[in-house]
Amino acid sequence: MQVCRTVTDCRKRVSAYRQSGETVGLVPTMGFLHAGHMELVAAAKSRADRVVVTIFVNPTQFGDASDLDAYPRDEARDLAMLREAGVDLVLIPEVIEVYPNGDETIVETTRMANMLHGEVRPGHFRGVTTVVARLFNFVQPDFACFGEKDYQQLQVIKRMTQDLAFPIEIVGVPIVREADGLAMSSRNVRLSDEDRKAALVLSSALDTAEALTSPTVENLREAIASAIHSEPRATLRGLDIVAAETLDNISGPLTAPAAIMLSAEFGGVLLLDQRVITP
Ligand code: PAF
Repeated sequence: MQVCRTVTDCRKRVSAYRQSGETVGLVPTMGFLHAGHMELVAAAKSRADRVVVTIFVNPTQFGDASDLDAYPRDEARDLAMLREAGVDLVLIPEVIEVYPNGDETIVETTRMANMLHGEVRPGHFRGVTTVVARLFNFVQPDFACFGEKDYQQLQVIKRMTQDLAFPIEIVGVPIVREADGLAMSSRNVRLSDEDRKAALVLSSALDTAEALTSPTVENLREAIASAIHSEPRATLRGLDIVAAETLDNISGPLTAPAAIMLSAEFGGVLLLDQRVITP
């Protein structure tokens, strides 16, 4: 496995793959890898001759510096996991490589970035699309894999890729869960034992909603909110039920796939879960 720290080095190696006629899949990450990331790597490996993973804790997508500082990092462990998984190349750029001095260019989906989670995390999706556009340009893969857990992120990246005509397929990979149903996330390690148990309310609330026989936006919302409110350690932060692709507002009985995006805080740790319900 090759580890590159500069874009120039990464490009040189990727172009050697290209010259041998090999296809390239990209898995962008912020490191501190868990089984959810490894699922993205496995999805990429099953589709491409070569898999490139990027590890970059992107400062522009964090609202406050303390969240950025608290973000867990363990490069040696990440590299061991990626080597074991048979990844071909890992790009670990310095901030200055990604955001050169004096840089001025941002990439933003103007509607989708500023709704839903974007409303409570101003600038977050702008940071994501700006870095992903740069990573796409660095690596120039045939496709890139993103988790469905960050559902809005996935739709925002699909929109950006289409709008900017990147010749890159965006592959959404289903959520990976712990045995008890908690969606895997790098943030889970920050939960106390009690909050870890309480956080199961996220997936169980979505199960309850999915089991409704005549789902409407209103009865789905009611079922999920009351499940979350019944857990004293949970603070509901976001509950959005929207059209699955456009993220548009919907109401009444479900007539087309709807995405439920749920977020709640447990002891100061914000967790997300998501489900697409097809009527
Ligand atoms: O999902 C993530 O880990 C990040 O938002 C991403 C896509 C790697 C961009 O920094």
